[in-house]
Amino acid sequence: MSRQVTASAPGKLMLFGEHAVVYGKPCIVVAVDQRMRVTVESSGDGNLKISAPEVNVADYVEKIDNLGDDKAPKGVRFVSVAVKNFFNFYNINIGLRVETRSDFPSKYGFGSSSAVTVATIKALSQFIRSKVNNDQIFNLSYKTVLDVQGVGSGFDVAAAVWGGTIYFVKGGKMTETIEHSVLPLIVGYTGIKADTPTLVRRVAGFYRRDKKLTDKIFDSIGRIVEEGRDALVKGKYKRLGLLMNKNQELLQSLGVSSPELNRLIKASKVAGAYGAKLSGAGGGDCMIAIVAPELRSSVERAIEKEGGVVLDVAIQAEGVRTEKI
Ligand code: PMV
Repeated sequence: MSRQVTASAPGKLMLFGEHAVVYGKPCIVVAVDQRMRVTVESSGDGNLKISAPEVNVADYVEKIDNLGDDKAPKGVRFVSVAVKNFFNFYNINIGLRVETRSDFPSKYGFGSSSAVTVATIKALSQFIRSKVNNDQIFNLSYKTVLDVQGVGSGFDVAAAVWGGTIYFVKGGKMTETIEHSVLPLIVGYTGIKADTPTLVRRVAGFYRRDKKLTDKIFDSIGRIVEEGRDALVKGKYKRLGLLMNKNQELLQSLGVSSPELNRLIKASKVAGAYGAKLSGAGGGDCMIAIVAPELRSSVERAIEKEGGVVLDVAIQAEGVRTEKI
């Protein structure tokens, strides 16, 4: 039997700083214990064969010297471009069979694309027995994400690589781990799939129309991130909640929240959460709330009553790793 290597990487949730991070402000991202797994083995021919059962892809085939076909389904594009970038970097060329498995559906917005990219690069480096460090994995993965979707700060790639909780600046200019105790966080899914590039373009339009105002909003978000970092380290949950509310107001003024997000956020606050906000690009996906332990179940019920789905996720998950098979 040919050698198989499996690597896995976690998904993420944005705690503070979305959108402003695209314009150079810092953000805080946490890795979640929902992982993407990628298994690599030799295909024995000159092809890359990809199976991704969760996105209904069975044995998608591309010629190894013609990787990155932009007509390929989205579920395999990240893998195929990651393989291409890895091969170019190491100047190698081998036929491969790649299988991806996911702990979570891509609709939640947990960053399945970046997690699958990071896990692919890690699996490939193990497969060729090269010692690639996390900075190199980040750089190759971030390049892959930009090649495929054109926009992005790379915060999701950083969470997949390093795990834990990270203070992050675009492109990996800063990736500092923040140590903190377990956060009393609730994650509510709106049931609506958001399209990140569309929302990033919406904010770009907002910026073009009123640079001064947008800069002011980004500066305020930047300050919230700094204060949020401090509150997180000190375990000041009430303060974190207040900062989440402020961050949400600013995101709303940028036009990226949605009626569904607003409903779940309002319901959780009425039920006693310290604070709540959207997490990620907005437009749908998930909201997060911070809540005192004794109020957790009433806040969860309030979210569900408004049509949200409470997701059971633990945060500060471990970053990319190889798995024993
Ligand atoms: O939609 P998500 O969860 O991938 O988050 C996007 C966050 C943005 O700041 C809007 C974009 C980015 O790449 O940082």
